[in-house]
Amino acid sequence: MKTPAFTIEPAQRGDLRETAEMLFDSELGRKYYPTLQTLEETLTAAFGTDLMYLLKCGGETAGFIWFQKNGAFYLYPYLHIVFVREAYRKTGCGKRLLEFFEQYALNPDGIRKLRSKVFLVVGDWNTGARKFYERSGYTEVGLLPGLFRKKVDEHLMMKECVNL
Ligand SMILES: CC(C)(COP(=O)(O)OP(=O)(O)OC[C@H]1O[C@@H](n2cnc3c(N)ncnc32)[C@H](O)[C@@H]1OP(=O)(O)O)[C@@H](O)C(=O)NCCC(=O)NCCS
Repeated sequence: MKTPAFTIEPAQRGDLRETAEMLFDSELGRKYYPTLQTLEETLTAAFGTDLMYLLKCGGETAGFIWFQKNGAFYLYPYLHIVFVREAYRKTGCGKRLLEFFEQYALNPDGIRKLRSKVFLVVGDWNTGARKFYERSGYTEVGLLPGLFRKKVDEHLMMKECVNL
């Protein structure tokens, strides 16, 4: 299916409630956050320090990406969450958000780098997202047993990005 027309815009503080609702209304959101309020508070605490962008399609928020500039080993960008609303999935939206993240890694603060590494973790249970990352060139570099939740192992994944 063709990727819908979209823009990627920085999230504003006023967007955080809707973003929290969107995330909480998913298996991912409910698995890692006990309540909608906790999720909204977590987003609010990170806002301004971390980087958060919305994928906008015809006035609607179709997706969201949240990452940290030096979140991996105080050196490399770390992707915390990429999320696409169900209605927009499998149309290339997630890939566009990942490419945006990788472009940021290669051009942080507008300074062009020749190469960078980017990192993320993904839950063992999240087979769809694991395939999505693999299709996008990420490889597993470690397993973190029970990282966020006692019985949930997380796969540490990395991608080498090169500025062409
Ligand atoms: C993971 C997620 C962001 C993917 O978004 P998406 O918009 O559906 O992905 P895209 O359409 O851009 O797909 C890109 C590639 O990944 C593949 N892919 C995406 N979802 C997949 C799935 N569930 N199973 C297998 N492959 C998948 C696509 O087939 C496509 O492959 P291609 O490049 O060979 O054509 C989306 O499913 C989502 O929001 N999931 C819930 C939140 C989540 O788990 N986030 C990740 C953990 S933080």
